[in-house]
Order: sequence, then structure tokens, then C-alpha cells
Amino acid sequence: MEETKKSLLDDSFTSAMTLTNSGVPQVPDRYVLPSAQRPALGSSIGTRDDTTLPVIDLSLLHQPLLRSRAIHEINMACKEFGFFQVINHGIPSSVVKDALDAATQFFDLPVEEKMLLVSSNVHQPVRYGTSINHSTDKVHYWRDFIKHYSHPLSKWIEMWPSNPPCYKSIDGYMSKNASIDELSRKYPDEVLPRDKVGKYAEATHLLNKQLLEAISESLGLEKNYLQEQNEEGSQVIAVNCYPSCPEPEVTLGMPPHSDFGSLTILLQSSEGLQIMDSNKNWVCVPYIEGALIVQLGDQVEVMSNGIYKSVIHRVTVNKHVKMLSFASLHSLPRR
Ligand code: OGA
Ligand code: NI
Repeated sequence: MEETKKSLLDDSFTSAMTLTNSGVPQVPDRYVLPSAQRPALGSSIGTRDDTTLPVIDLSLLHQPLLRSRAIHEINMACKEFGFFQVINHGIPSSVVKDALDAATQFFDLPVEEKMLLVSSNVHQPVRYGTSINHSTDKVHYWRDFIKHYSHPLSKWIEMWPSNPPCYKSIDGYMSKNASIDELSRKYPDEVLPRDKVGKYAEATHLLNKQLLEAISESLGLEKNYLQEQNEEGSQVIAVNCYPSCPEPEVTLGMPPHSDFGSLTILLQSSEGLQIMDSNKNWVCVPYIEGALIVQLGDQVEVMSNGIYKSVIHRVTVNKHVKMLSFASLHSLPRR
């Protein structure tokens, strides 16, 4: 009886990481997409010269004489793609590296440890899973993830994974309802080395605020037009792991979709994202060391009366390389 129960459970949840580690020579049938939905990897059909995608230097925003140039570039990118990459965005490379490091350690944990956080309830504030929703997906995607609410940080961080210990600060500091910055000043030696993902969450929250200001300006609105709503809004971080895949040409890491919120700030450890351009061609987004990806969500499309479009995107997987990503999904409250 116990055996049967266990094998039923095992059948209903197998992470992509488990399949990769077991060395399967092919993907199981549930991952195989109908041919029209496969990613046409390596063929030039439906792709375009990726050097034409916008990359914006955000340091210009802080220079009074050059800010309007950056705003103009943002306006063009949002109109044409609903997408751009940013460099000189102000998040230190050590913060980015630490976050990726914590994610690597989390996904390398034994399955039983990660299963403590598994849930098929999409409203769970902290949720480990595979594919999009393993219990309802008809086709599965080659992706494992840990998703958690992240703003306000002090409200949620206690529920975040406590293993690996570097993922967040522990020892009950967070219950004092102080920001990571305040805590770091107060407990410089104890907290700093252990709050890797918390630091990244706070840094992306600030970057999102700056980007919303620039986007508001680029639409001819007041810089602070969305500030209040943004503070009341939510930030959910999806940490994704796309293990190397024996048959990347028949499956995807994530299906085509647009993000529902205002902005998504995306960090990837290697290439894999594709966006759909205005001619409905898939475009591979080049990997730029140190850059972050900004994607407009449906809320900005609505707020701009359709002048800006939310970007449709998908994730391809790789035969040899495991890709990690942090998708920081920001949204304004529903009114
Ligand atoms: C998302 C998303 C892309 C990625 O989480 O909505 O599009 O590379 N992620 O993980
Ligand atoms: Ni997305």
C-alpha cells in the first residue's frame, strides 16, 4: 500500500532536473510539442538579425543633459518591441552573482528537500514546481522553478526557502520588520553574507521604480504618475532552472506568453529567451554579460492605451547548458 502511494506521487511530479540527472536519452512524451509549436532551433526561418534589438544605457537617466536621450530610446523600444535590455542599471555584479549562486545551490538540493515547498496552488506565496503547473498541464515544459512573493520583503522573506542558508537571512531578524539595508547596518557581520536573494529582490524593486518613472515620462506623463500604485503593488520573483535537455528541438522551457503585470526585470545566466516582433517572427535575445532584460506587461499596454505593447516571449532550452533565470514580476494593484 505504502509502495503504491509512493509511486503514484512520484509519477505526478518529476522535475526536469531529475530527468536530466538520470541521463534520459530522449524527453518523455509529455514534453513533446506539436510540430507547429516547436522552436525551429538552428534554422534561420522566422528569426532576424538580433543586433537590431535595443540596448539602453541607464546611467544616462542620472545625467541631466542626457536623460531625455534615454527617455527617447525607451519610448522607441517600448513602441516597437515592448522590450529592451539595460546596461549600467546600478545593480552591482556581486549582487547578481550571489543571487545566481543561491539559485544554483537551491536547485542542486536533494529532491526531498525541494518537495517541502511543492504546491499546485498558484496562490501559494512560496511555491516550488515544474513546468507551469504540473498537475494541470497537458504538455509539460522543461523547467523547474521556485516562485515567491517579494514585496514588501519583510512580510514574505520568512517564508522563503531556509535551505541553502545563504538564500535569505535567518535567525528571526526579519520579524523585526526592518529592511535588509537597515538590518545590514545593524548586524553587518551576521546578515550580509546570508541574504543573497533578499538583496537582489530589493535592488530589482528599486530598479523597477526608476524604470516606471522613465516609462511614465516617455509617455508624456509626470515622472511620479505610477509611484503610489507601484508601492502598493506586488513583486513576485520566479527563479527558474532550465536544465540541459536531450531534445531541445521538440520542447520549450516556457510557452509563448505575455506577463500580466507592469514590468518584468529578467536576469538570465545564458541565452534562451525569444521575443515575438511586430511581424510575428521569433527573435533570439542575445546574451549580454551584465545586462538585464526589461519586458512590458499587460498593465503597461492598458495604461498606455495600447501605444506600448506587452511583449510575447518564450524560452528555449539547450542541449548542453543549464540556464538559470530570475524573473522579477512587478504589478500594480487592481483598482
Ligand atoms: C516568466 C518568464 C523567462 C525566463 O517567468 O514570465 O518569462 O527566462 N521567464 O525565465
Ligand atoms: Ni514571462
